[in-house]
Amino acid sequence: MERTFIMVKPDGVQRGLVGEIISRFEKRGFKLVGLKLMQISRELAETHYGEHKSKPFFEGLVNFITSGPVVAMVWEGKEVIATAREMMGATNPLKAQPGTIRGTYGIDVGRNVIHGSDSPESAAREIALFFKEEELLSYEKTLDTWIY
Ligand code: TYD
Ligand code: MG
Repeated sequence: MERTFIMVKPDGVQRGLVGEIISRFEKRGFKLVGLKLMQISRELAETHYGEHKSKPFFEGLVNFITSGPVVAMVWEGKEVIATAREMMGATNPLKAQPGTIRGTYGIDVGRNVIHGSDSPESAAREIALFFKEEELLSYEKTLDTWIY
């Protein structure tokens, strides 16, 4: 069973999209195993987005992601990493398919509402960056054998 790191960015929190985004992952059948509202430090932002350090948008990205509270989450399920990326839609909301999260709510590439890990390696790295082991829970959903 895979786990992925998902984050509602400051624009998503400001616009009241936290519940909507959580709801989409719940309804898709994924399991929430970690969740917190947090203000990201500059250091954490720079580490999290380290792969983009040399890009022209890096400074603006770090400023944006540290500009207000975010909701950090870990979701679990079969192929959740790739499926979450599909649910999110393309990085540029103007190119994202209608019906995806970014394609429904996104305004601009710099204000694209949600982050999701793009590979098993980045999922493991990002989960460890944002959560302590004891903040991630293992539990059974016993009411419905058709979901995880
Ligand atoms: P990236 O990892 O390429 O996209 P994704 O979030 O889909 O994995 O880029 C990280 C974030 O950087 C992206 O969500 C928004 C921001 N960004 C820009 O502001 N301008 C850009 O041209 C790109 C490619 C990304
Ligand atoms: Mg990325």
